[in-house]
Amino acid sequence: MAKITLGICTTHGPILNTTPEEWMLRVPHDHKVKHWFRNKEYTFSELAELRKHENFPAQITLEERTRRHADCQHGVAKLAEIWQREKPDVAVIMGNDQRELILDSMQPAFTIYHGDTFWQKPLDADKASRLSVGIKESEWAYRPHDPVVWPGLPELAALAFEMAEDAGFDFAASKSWPDMGAHHHIGTPHAFSWVIRRVMGDQPVPILPIITNTFFPPNQPTSRRCYDMGRFFGKVIKHWKQDVKVAVFGSGGLTHFTIDENFDQSLMQALIQRDEKFLCSVPQTTLMQGTSEIRNWIAAAGTLAETELDGSVIDYVPCYRTEAGTGTAQGFMVWR
Ligand SMILES: [Fe+2]
Repeated sequence: MAKITLGICTTHGPILNTTPEEWMLRVPHDHKVKHWFRNKEYTFSELAELRKHENFPAQITLEERTRRHADCQHGVAKLAEIWQREKPDVAVIMGNDQRELILDSMQPAFTIYHGDTFWQKPLDADKASRLSVGIKESEWAYRPHDPVVWPGLPELAALAFEMAEDAGFDFAASKSWPDMGAHHHIGTPHAFSWVIRRVMGDQPVPILPIITNTFFPPNQPTSRRCYDMGRFFGKVIKHWKQDVKVAVFGSGGLTHFTIDENFDQSLMQALIQRDEKFLCSVPQTTLMQGTSEIRNWIAAAGTLAETELDGSVIDYVPCYRTEAGTGTAQGFMVWR
């Protein structure tokens, strides 16, 4: 019978794939847009005023950014090392789409990818040139130099669709990545390709991608729904009559683009303690913008809930870039 032998929750954003100097390329954007912080939206200057007692200028010096960058790289290397050592046979990845595959013409809350394989390739020059500054520089971590085909997990997907009927889930089904025409993105969404490139070292095992709409109104699932969806996959894996070691990933987060260390720390404690009440009551107004990707960690926690594995934090690194406390908090957790 299939058995979950490893759990990993990891962030996956551009900060992990760019230099401490390049981190600052997103600062002009931060000044322009509104930011969610503790269930409310602020302009950049309002946020800077609200948080001025937190002394962010001391945390965004090049020296400090360089130190935190090194901590992040150490965290990623540690995950890759654990992956190599544990050698799971297959992986279930809880990830999201950020207008990469799924456009507002058709936007399911949860999608199971059930194709035999899925692909990734470099962007053509025109599409690459249209990526935002600070994103462009990080593309190497999401795309290989040459087109590749990665193995899917249709057998487990089929079992999930079969069991979903009685479990009250109605998943969307995707069997191939759509042809995105002139859209800026093609291929595998970043939440999945980052894990394959940087944790699995471009040597993926067969993967079941579960795509949650974390970002876009009006149908982002609640934290409770994400946890229950994850829990459902725990049951599916338990019923799978294959003698394989399964790894479960939650890919995304942590708080961004307004970092909230208190919230991230509480979340990681709740994950370690299997605090279902906390995990299922994170409000929709907290799970906004990039922070919304924490839904993938909550889903993974649901899948890991009935295992004997123990969770621990490898590292937590708040990577600030402005005096308003904007940036991206990076986190690396493992269940063994
Ligand atoms: Fe992301």
